Amino acid sequence: MRVSDHQLAMTTTDAEIAALFPPDFLWGVSTAAYQIEGATLEDGRAPSTWDYFATLPGKVYAGETGEVATDHYHRMPQDVALMADLGLKSYRFSIAWSRVLPTGVGPINARGLDFYERLVDALLEHKITPFVTLYHWDLPMTLHERGGWLNRDTAYAFADYAEMMAARLGDRVDHWVTHNEPWCNAFLGYGTGFHAPGLEDMQSAINAGHHLLLAHGLALPRLRALTSPTAQVGITLNVSPVYAADAQAPTLQGVEHKDVIQNRWFLDPLFKAHYPETLFSSLGVQAPPMEADDMALISAPIDFLSINYYSRAVIRGSTQNASYEEVNAIEGSEYTAMNWEVYPSGLTDILVRLHHDYAPPRLMVTENGAAFPDVWDGEHEINDSRRLDYLRSHIRAVGDAIAQGVPVHGYYIWSLLDNYEWTEGYSKRFGIVYVDYASQRRIIKKSGHWYASFLAL
Ligand code: FCB
Repeated sequence: MRVSDHQLAMTTTDAEIAALFPPDFLWGVSTAAYQIEGATLEDGRAPSTWDYFATLPGKVYAGETGEVATDHYHRMPQDVALMADLGLKSYRFSIAWSRVLPTGVGPINARGLDFYERLVDALLEHKITPFVTLYHWDLPMTLHERGGWLNRDTAYAFADYAEMMAARLGDRVDHWVTHNEPWCNAFLGYGTGFHAPGLEDMQSAINAGHHLLLAHGLALPRLRALTSPTAQVGITLNVSPVYAADAQAPTLQGVEHKDVIQNRWFLDPLFKAHYPETLFSSLGVQAPPMEADDMALISAPIDFLSINYYSRAVIRGSTQNASYEEVNAIEGSEYTAMNWEVYPSGLTDILVRLHHDYAPPRLMVTENGAAFPDVWDGEHEINDSRRLDYLRSHIRAVGDAIAQGVPVHGYYIWSLLDNYEWTEGYSKRFGIVYVDYASQRRIIKKSGHWYASFLAL
């Protein structure tokens, strides 16, 4: 099934793939502030949890930080011109909360906000639709020192911040996402210590997750009040379809368990106003502290659900005990430099399932892409044909979902540029544009040229 899907995508022509999409489809690329901006100490920006976490010994590959990153803060006009050259229709970026509100709360730091004002204006000048993510994991340190996402007040601070951004950019920005992948921020940030702020406590992960959801719910009406009537507000979740390696009972239980933790933890409260029944017991924790109206706020209708898709999960249960494992060396499968399996039809499957189980009015794919060890010899084209194949087969998979009636409205490649890949530092390259970090030169890879030619069809 998988192999033939892949082969099918490879034998379909670009024009046939393009024909699967409606004319107003949003084609773009995604980035995130801490991964590209650099200039972490400039124009009044204050540290975020990632500035702090990146300097903790042993947390990030080679101790690398986002202090310079791709220097996008200084090179923004050229980067926007590059997007225009590629023919992009839309650009998804995140606002660094601690750049615009250094302490996490007002007043606004005018010099910080000015950067995003200029960015939005530059995009619009090039007819590129701006798509804003308000929070991509970089919590202002001042708020972290008051408990971060473990403190309910952070949710109220987020809603104030969201309102201030809508007041300033809402006349020009029509696409808003509250959070990027709250699962990662909660589970990896507070549960396993793999991401900032680096806590290792599952109860904290659940509590932080609840406050992230609450922050989303509180921000929704305030964003709507200050944006245009046609503006769309949503949230971005990282979802992964979960498959069974065999048909044994322990495996099927493992699949259910993994799906609850990976996908339904955030989907169910947003669309069904409750947490999955087995979520807390399966993590060995209690329900988070909640107030009476929380679920009503969290489950208020959104205009779209956006998903970030990279791979699937395959589960195999153990007959010895109640445990299960994720299978990650599947024979015949290709893996990226992140050791993530290339599995395009998983994207069709998860889109179809979300439409069926949760029926958001619109869906978007706000991140999809692959890391490979690209090499530039200083002269010739960067031949990242594996990334090109990855993108092409996943775009085709989105087209298949649309053909099955799923209302998908946009697709964004992760990422425009090679950038700071969190705990992997600069060692993993996801860009369709190569960054030579020593010179900060940008070189369009083969996949970037291909995307441009595909968008020109
Ligand atoms: C996602 C993140 C994004 C990037 C990709 C590879 O989980 O949202 O910032 O790091 O993974």
